[in-house]
Amino acid sequence: MAEAEETRQPSLHVAIIMDGNGRWAQKRGKPRLFGHHAGARRVSEILEACPDLGVKYLTIFAFSTENWKRTQAEVAGLMSLFRRYIEKEARKLFKRGVRVRFIGDRVRLDEKLVSLMDDLELLTAENDLVHLTIALNYGSRDEVARATKRLAEDVAAGRLRPQDVDVETLPHYLDTCVLPDPDLVIRTSGEARISNFLLWQSAYAEYEFVDTLWPDFSAGEFVEVVNRFHLRERRYGAVTG
Ligand code: IPE
Ligand code: IPE
Ligand code: MG
Repeated sequence: MAEAEETRQPSLHVAIIMDGNGRWAQKRGKPRLFGHHAGARRVSEILEACPDLGVKYLTIFAFSTENWKRTQAEVAGLMSLFRRYIEKEARKLFKRGVRVRFIGDRVRLDEKLVSLMDDLELLTAENDLVHLTIALNYGSRDEVARATKRLAEDVAAGRLRPQDVDVETLPHYLDTCVLPDPDLVIRTSGEARISNFLLWQSAYAEYEFVDTLWPDFSAGEFVEVVNRFHLRERRYGAVTG
């Protein structure tokens, strides 16, 4: 067992708020959707860098519950980009050993997109090299509200006793129930805010806010950020040293 412990690869969970696509496009005098397409192309490169870095879980914020406030054209363009991305990348993700999951509320998404999401989850269900979670129509407050609703239903039906609700039980109701908590949350584009992403799960995550706009965020910079993370001391409220 000791030997197995020693040779064990770290299994980090890195979550990314992929921000700055719009500004990247604007700087080039292009429509915002041009930036979203460039941003989508970045994902594969970052994903490929994960195994060597010991990143077993990569969670990316693709569309928030607040992003519906954008113009109808931008929202429609993003939805069609998500459909096309899944159609185009599904086989590649499967062959590369990536297990894909989606978090967020699917109710507001169109049927065709939801069925592509379901198919991709099923296709990659046996993979285990990297676990890619795509947050689509995801908002942490919405997730906690949906979780609480299901928890209340279980209490009302007698499946759960109120006195058994604690910090161990509640996460079972979250969309992320099968995932470990993120170790590192990266946000690109210079904004230092969380924008409703993984609020419960990131209670003890380390944060990195980088100025690079998402379509410019290279694998090299990703490696640098992850290496910086390894230099940090995580105390979880305790006193060390
Ligand atoms: C992030 O880029 C992608 C989504 C939110 C869908 P933005 O579209 O927010 O880009 P900026 O922040 O306007 O530059
Ligand atoms: C957060 O970015 C959501 C995603 C990256 C999908 P936003 O651009 O929507 O966040 P705000 O509006 O700047 O807080
Ligand atoms: Mg933004």
